[in-house]
Amino acid sequence: GNLALWGGRFAGGPADALAALSKSTHFDWRLAEFDIAGSRAHARVLHGAGLLDDEGLTAMLAGLDQLLADVRSGDFTPAPGDEDVHTALERGLIERAGADVGGRLRAGRSRNDQIATLFRMYLRAHARSVAALLLDVVDALLAQAKNHLGVAMPGRTHLQHAQPVLLSHHLQAHAWALLRDVDRLRDWDRRADESPYGSGALAGSSLGLDPLSVAHDLGFSRSSANSIDGTAGRDFAAEFAFVAAMAAVDVSRLAEEVVLWATKEFSFVTLDDAYSTGSSIMPQKKNPDVAELARGKAGRLVGDLAGLLTTLKALPLAYNRDLQEDKEPVFDAVDTLEVLLPAVSGMVATLVFNTDRLESLAPQGFALATDIAEWLVREGVPFRVAHEVAGSCVRVCEERGIELWDLTDADLVAINPNLTPDVRRVLTVEGSLASRDATGGTAPARVAEQLTAATKTSQEY
Ligand code: ARG
Repeated sequence: GNLALWGGRFAGGPADALAALSKSTHFDWRLAEFDIAGSRAHARVLHGAGLLDDEGLTAMLAGLDQLLADVRSGDFTPAPGDEDVHTALERGLIERAGADVGGRLRAGRSRNDQIATLFRMYLRAHARSVAALLLDVVDALLAQAKNHLGVAMPGRTHLQHAQPVLLSHHLQAHAWALLRDVDRLRDWDRRADESPYGSGALAGSSLGLDPLSVAHDLGFSRSSANSIDGTAGRDFAAEFAFVAAMAAVDVSRLAEEVVLWATKEFSFVTLDDAYSTGSSIMPQKKNPDVAELARGKAGRLVGDLAGLLTTLKALPLAYNRDLQEDKEPVFDAVDTLEVLLPAVSGMVATLVFNTDRLESLAPQGFALATDIAEWLVREGVPFRVAHEVAGSCVRVCEERGIELWDLTDADLVAINPNLTPDVRRVLTVEGSLASRDATGGTAPARVAEQLTAATKTSQEY
């Protein structure tokens, strides 16, 4: 017989080419358990509305239980003739509960409100798992920060030496970005917490079914205020794809630094063998593939977001079949993050920092020039002049091939009479770091406080 859901109006089944094009079971099957949960909730409201008697409800729930067990065990899978997850599961229910009971379930619902609901349920579950994996990366960063409190490194802007900072400060900069991504997922959930079940195809249900009761059954705190919006809105999917892409981009910025840090020229870190790869031809190689894949996968997630937004652009209300294209990009984003993030947290947790090298490079490249200028300002010199004087110090040093702290008392006073030997106090990494002690600065005391705050934030999530 015709397995399609719309047999009545049609003389024949779909052409093979249409069936092949239409099919989505190869990617929407992952929603099967959510679909069954939706059906259970729907069965209860049908019963509540008097459209299913006690016996019918019992038989339907038993059929759905059996179906769930068979889906889980792999005994029930989509058949070649099933169009999508909903079609397949309706067939499965009818096979288990009989055509009379199974055939009643579809009343008052549409695949349009089903899919809009199940997709949200799936993403809400995975928002939690992705958030937990992001927090693992955060925790790995914070553990490294904690183990290296007090270690200085060259802080950079434009990738050039800028000012010394604490390694713990730098690592926490990445942690805060990822904590905001976790916060975005939680904030996203507040908007995704809305069930479209009961919206029907687009206009709502006429059968006296209670959408709110279905919503509560499925873990939502409210149902859609507008059935057209409920079935056609996909901003929840696009927003999820954005947060996923943002998180991947944040991870890629950390990853790029790891790639640089692991080069011979930087030699800031050594990667653990378990998180690096060799070369099939060059025996000496140890490659940062985890970090490179993190960089690469970020591009993929940006593509997922762009693809989804492009599908949604200019799509008229309400449901259009284009919307079947909404799932794969977002599933891809979830799958990618779920395989990437554990590797990234492992890589970060096992990084070995070359602290001697970080500390010895911290003041180089005239990174303490700003400290001279700010010392002069504290001595009452206008910053415009102070900047000029510190710049002269750099020029003199560069000409002679020496560092700022190599300038003699006579050199200093010759450059500017305000430069007394006392300026040497700030010409050390320790002095420079300690002086940046306002909130958010890299002074050791502030960085320790920051670590307490970041740890607390991470644990609260
Ligand atoms: N499989 C479709 C989707 O993922 C849902 C089915 C709605 N189809 C329809 N012809 N109304 O969007």
